Amino acid sequence: MKYLEVNKKDTEQIKKLLEKIKAFDKTRKIIQNKNKILIPILNISNGKIKKHIVKLFDYSILNLKAKIQKQGSRIDQNQSKNFKKYENIARGYDILGNIAIIKYINKSEKSKKLIGKAEQIAKWIINSNPSIKTVVAQTSPISGKFRLRKFKYISGIKTFIATYKENNCIFKFDIRKTFFSNRLSYERSRINKLIKPKEAIIVMFAGIGPFAIVIAKQHKLTNIICIELNKNAVHYLKENIKLNKIGNIKAELGNVKKIYSKYKNFANRVIVPMPKSSIDYLDQILSVCQKTAIIHIYVFGDRDTVFAKTSKAIEEHARKNNYKAKILFKRIVRPYSAKEIEIVVDFKISKSTKK
Ligand SMILES: C[S@@+](CC[C@H](N)C(=O)[O-])C[C@H]1O[C@@H](n2cnc3c(N)ncnc32)[C@H](O)[C@@H]1O
Repeated sequence: MKYLEVNKKDTEQIKKLLEKIKAFDKTRKIIQNKNKILIPILNISNGKIKKHIVKLFDYSILNLKAKIQKQGSRIDQNQSKNFKKYENIARGYDILGNIAIIKYINKSEKSKKLIGKAEQIAKWIINSNPSIKTVVAQTSPISGKFRLRKFKYISGIKTFIATYKENNCIFKFDIRKTFFSNRLSYERSRINKLIKPKEAIIVMFAGIGPFAIVIAKQHKLTNIICIELNKNAVHYLKENIKLNKIGNIKAELGNVKKIYSKYKNFANRVIVPMPKSSIDYLDQILSVCQKTAIIHIYVFGDRDTVFAKTSKAIEEHARKNNYKAKILFKRIVRPYSAKEIEIVVDFKISKSTKK
């Protein structure tokens, strides 16, 4: 995986330049290494980077092993030395406000024997990060229709309720009973910047409300409908609406396949953050749209084919239903598995006037 190693003082400027030439890989974390910073970059030609950056700054391009980029941004070289001791058990950790989540590599006997060491990792994490009060370990992959994962308490205050701040909003949720990913924070901020004052928005698969709340908090005149099947997620969605003092979101508990019919032709924007199956909901998406609307759809798929397949599915579906679809934007959101990535495609549909 490629990184640009730069002087710490130049980080922000170089990051902006990389963003401008679409070379900054937002799916990976920036790593600090003494007084150098490693900025993750996409696999674009070194020539393109040279052309834009070489004259202005000192830098070098590094190719690091995947293992390193899995470690969190807050693991500097010293920490990483300590961390190495434990890497048989955990590969980095994620932080959701007050809770740090370490991952077991697998369920092998060796891992089980080493679980005792998780407490040492946890103490080290709590000592080095004052805001972290609890450490848990993720013991299963995300699965099921509610997209949940299993956790085991390791150390600190015994709770599974996270309080997490992002994009000027605060979110509370039970990590065992609801889905939440901090890796989508850039996407929430990106979409928020596209919103105009009085939009009518539907967030399908809304979870505990991160997309909707980030938008509603800043755009008070928008009218937002959230649809979510998991009653625990809806419970926290309602709590988060109160916590953030928001008045322009309605939470609907139920299946998108049923609830959509209450909102036919309602939306000028639809957000569909269910990458596992969102492409199966094109009928419902189209049905809730006004004559023209913008859709942000998240999809998992094979790195080499997912963009083409998604665009084709969108365009064919629109054509069959007498709509035009125009792809406005697409990007990789994050790697998902060895072969698969999560992508987002923004597209506009407009009712065709041809008979
Ligand atoms: C990948 S999560 C996304 C949650 C949230 N939008 C976020 O970004 O944090 C997908 C969500 O869709 C919900 N879900 C799954 N199937 C659904 C359905 N048929 N109708 C409504 N919600 C559904 C799950 O419970 C889960 O909360």
